[in-house]
Amino acid sequence: MEACETIRQRKSIRAFKPDPVPRGTLKEIMELALRAPSWANTQPWEFAIATGKTLEEIREAFVDNAEEQANPDIPHPRGFPEPYDTRRRVLGREVFELKGISREDKERRKWWLLQGLRLFEAPCAIYIYIDRSFYLQGHALNVWPIFDCGLVAENIMLLAPTYGLGTIAQIQAVGYPDILRSILRITDSKLIVLGIAIGYPDWDDPINQLHSEREPLDSISTWYGF
Ligand SMILES: Cc1cc2nc3c(=O)[nH]c(=O)nc-3n(C[C@H](O)[C@H](O)[C@H](O)COP(=O)(O)O)c2cc1C
Repeated sequence: MEACETIRQRKSIRAFKPDPVPRGTLKEIMELALRAPSWANTQPWEFAIATGKTLEEIREAFVDNAEEQANPDIPHPRGFPEPYDTRRRVLGREVFELKGISREDKERRKWWLLQGLRLFEAPCAIYIYIDRSFYLQGHALNVWPIFDCGLVAENIMLLAPTYGLGTIAQIQAVGYPDILRSILRITDSKLIVLGIAIGYPDWDDPINQLHSEREPLDSISTWYGF
């Protein structure tokens, strides 16, 4: 698939079919994704790939913990100044509209939140983690390994549609990192950055029609010397 077409096709998938994803397919995707660039080729990323009973155990533990405040290793933003808050609200509105969930419908809103914690029922998850010592350096933060994880994550998400797969990057998937550390036996010396839910999209679910907006290039770029 052409790079342009690959980029056009990728979008976040929020409803998956239960069909399992062959390990060989995931391996192929991830081996190619490792071609991502990183600071001085440090390749700070490590992966835990879960499916079947292990992933079900994670889903259930996350749902059981849903009343607790999420506390991901890489913290949530403390706030969303403009214009980011508006963009985030637009997305939320679009999601709830497509799912037919009204503002007043607290029950369905809660159900949708739990669907997020259940990785939208994706049959597989790829957790990306890094070494704590490379990120927390004395009083300073070295954010570059996180940036590098974003690059490898994007490669995974761009490659997936070639295999008929869909993905969504999810902070919700790493909101309770101690649960992941315990089930996946990841040591305390690691920080879990992001989860990617991956599986075959359920195209019959209207949520997968969502086509998120982008700011026009002209409003966010200045050109010099042309
Ligand atoms: C770091 C990161 C974390 C995200 N976490 C979530 C999440 O927890 N739940 C969710 O529904 N979408 C999540 N998303 C998906 C974004 O909402 C999505 O990428 C954005 O709305 C743009 O839509 P698109 O991916 O379809 O182009 C996340 C995306 C990124 C890059």
